[in-house]
Amino acid sequence: MPDEPIVAVTRGLPGGALERLGEVAGIRLWEGVGAPPPHALRSLARGADGLLCMLTDRIDAGLLAACPRLQALSSCSVGVDHVDLAAATARGLPVGHTPGVLTETTADLAFALLLALARRVPEAERWLRAGSWTPQRRWEPDLLLGRDVHGATLGVVGVGAIGRAVARRARGFGMRVLGWSRHPKREAADEGVHFVDLERLLADADFVSLHVALTPQTRHLVDAAALARMKPGSCLVNTSRGEVVDEAALAEALAAGRLGGAALDVFEQEPLAPDSPLLGLKGLVLTPHIGSASVATRRRMAELSVENLLAGLAGRRMPHCANPEVYANP
Ligand code: GLV
Repeated sequence: MPDEPIVAVTRGLPGGALERLGEVAGIRLWEGVGAPPPHALRSLARGADGLLCMLTDRIDAGLLAACPRLQALSSCSVGVDHVDLAAATARGLPVGHTPGVLTETTADLAFALLLALARRVPEAERWLRAGSWTPQRRWEPDLLLGRDVHGATLGVVGVGAIGRAVARRARGFGMRVLGWSRHPKREAADEGVHFVDLERLLADADFVSLHVALTPQTRHLVDAAALARMKPGSCLVNTSRGEVVDEAALAEALAAGRLGGAALDVFEQEPLAPDSPLLGLKGLVLTPHIGSASVATRRRMAELSVENLLAGLAGRRMPHCANPEVYANP
């Protein structure tokens, strides 16, 4: 078909989403390992009508300027901090993303990290595998003691869809839930989230779980001052974006023993540098950005990102658009 649209796709996707896309568009797929480096991304996207990208692809103003034909950009992620939204909006380019479908899966991971940290699960497993579980140390009154989750207070920073889903899990575990949001939602309060200001949340929570999007306002929201306000011995869980936390300040607070521990799925620099001070600290659970990584959810994300792209290419409203200002009725 001479005028079928050309779509650049930066990674193979799980499920049949790409086959569906291939029925209506010519696909130019990045075949390399992992994310295309910036120059390869530019050549892949140049001349394309649509671009389907991942959160590891930096879509900046320069790249957008090099792709004047682009009519639709779709990211297979809920976060769009890797896209220069202002530059896309300025030229009327809709940017699709995938909220909703990954809410419960990401909340599952946040809660898994909280439990793993509280009960020292990875550490206990390493201890067993290292051969330390001997007949002499079969069961000790003080072996691998952790923290109780039931009865503890959870502070949810950013009570959007994922924060609320984490709060529901916490309630099921018998936790008291405090929440902080710039725009507190009535429905969350009805579900038992007690809204307080950020200082009070940090001072009162035994576990603090971060669920804000990364914006200029939330970059280093958890800085040295915020960490100093946290209850001594409390724990931090981050499944949002690494840059929400000042990682150097966190490493210092942990090394000084002011915090009880941290469970982190996201980092200021990904992958985590082999010389990161976090790797040398005790009381940490670290995972490689797997919040939405379940088979079913990654398939749904792939399908939704293709739906967004197809809608954008056809001049229809995307089902989930991160910059709805591009439409006449945002
Ligand atoms: C994951 O971090 C996402 O933004 O989808």
